[in-house]
Amino acid sequence: MKHLFKLSISSLLVLIAAMVVVGNTASAYSLDRLSGNNRYETSAAISKKGWKDGAKTVILVNGKDVAEAAVAAPLSKKLNAPVLLTNPNSLSAATRKEINSLNPKTIILIGGKKNISDKVIDKKIKAKVKRIGGKDRYETAALVAKEIPSKQAVVASGEYLFDVLGVAPYAAKNNMPVLLTKPNSLPAVTKKALKGKSSTVVIGRTKAVSDKVKKQLPKPKRISGSDRYDTSAQIAKLMGNKKKSYVVTGKNKIDATSAAALAAKNGGNLLYVEKTYVSTSVKVVIDTNKLTQFTVIGGTNIIDNKVGSELKQPIEHLLVNKKVAVGKDYKAAKLVEPKVKFAFSYNDPKRLMDSRAVPNFEALMKAAWKDNVKLYAQSGYRSYDRQAELYNYYKRTYGEKYASRISAKPGTSEHQTGLAMDVTSPSVGYDLVEKFAKTKEGKWVAKNAHKYGFIIRYPKGKENETGYAYEPWHLRYVGKDAAKEIYSKNITFEKYVK
Ligand code: DAL
Ligand code: ZN
Repeated sequence: MKHLFKLSISSLLVLIAAMVVVGNTASAYSLDRLSGNNRYETSAAISKKGWKDGAKTVILVNGKDVAEAAVAAPLSKKLNAPVLLTNPNSLSAATRKEINSLNPKTIILIGGKKNISDKVIDKKIKAKVKRIGGKDRYETAALVAKEIPSKQAVVASGEYLFDVLGVAPYAAKNNMPVLLTKPNSLPAVTKKALKGKSSTVVIGRTKAVSDKVKKQLPKPKRISGSDRYDTSAQIAKLMGNKKKSYVVTGKNKIDATSAAALAAKNGGNLLYVEKTYVSTSVKVVIDTNKLTQFTVIGGTNIIDNKVGSELKQPIEHLLVNKKVAVGKDYKAAKLVEPKVKFAFSYNDPKRLMDSRAVPNFEALMKAAWKDNVKLYAQSGYRSYDRQAELYNYYKRTYGEKYASRISAKPGTSEHQTGLAMDVTSPSVGYDLVEKFAKTKEGKWVAKNAHKYGFIIRYPKGKENETGYAYEPWHLRYVGKDAAKEIYSKNITFEKYVK
């Protein structure tokens, strides 16, 4: 068994390619994986993928501490040079092999001598060697920036390297160097490097780059998210392209260093994911920007195959709850009115659902009526503002504590996604009440919804996990596979996603 596992992750280049047609957009979905036995092999595999015909220049960096080389991507883009990792004291075998195959004229070491030793270059290396390195990450970043003349610069935190790497595709695309700052003070070398710049893009939250530092920068514009995952999503949103997305772990910066160079070269995105799931903000940008081309970086021990299915079907698996907001701006790709019976006759946006849930909801309702179960749709899509009105109404009527058990604050309701529909029946006066669970209709829904890809999102006795009191009427579309698993294991969506 152990041997088998080793074998499955040991190939230098693991390629899992899947071409399928996604939903109704009919755009080709592609997913592959680049990985090796260790970080050096993974970095070589990334280089092989991007620089098939060799490279005139290679950037060589410390594979154990990327603090100084995290700013390498814009230079990599400018010189069309892959970024290879090496053991900092001697050239790693996989790296040597890849350098030989690339056959560069120049090798650039990024980092001071303490960061990456001269010993990585031995007699067998024929290329010319150049070093760009200062006494620390701040000075090294300033020296790298000198090689990228621009009126603009990105300023990121030297203490939040995920943000530094995450912004690489954006900086490279706009030919902007990345300069580093301390969260609360702008280092003198950085200040000097900023002389003559007319504007800056600041990456990260105030704890990464404080407002005090921001004030000292020329025309600063801040891009930030609630965490590294969200920040990578915000950057992709800004890039606004449909190009390839390189999917890297948000737990370890090493793989992202070489991947950032490949993303920069191809004008693609860099997205951070957890080992087994994709965070909501990343799913939202995948959906909004219609991203369909993914390369996962690292083996399944780093990023599980489950992530692949979430990248492919972000909507089905979109987790929205008290802790995870979709935010004010989220809009479903397409909202459509299902052809079903409604509990009211007037026209209202609450008739709408995300188009991807609609055929499944129609099938559910059809099956119910066929079984003589009188099910009516009551409330589907709600805008951010509508949810705000509703929440405030409950708050005024019942007080904040109770309101928060039955109604989501704006930006955190599944109804805003169009993936939820509340259903009811004449047997409870078309109301949304707990006793619906005891009716013929309520029982039918509980037993059958999963067959159509829906779950009872807020089950009885699970308030500590979902954050909400029992709602036997609130159906959430999660896709058939997920719904079946959630139903048969009797788990919450929170449990399923994580
Ligand atoms: N009633 C559910 C929790 C909502 O307001 O979205
Ligand atoms: Zn609901």
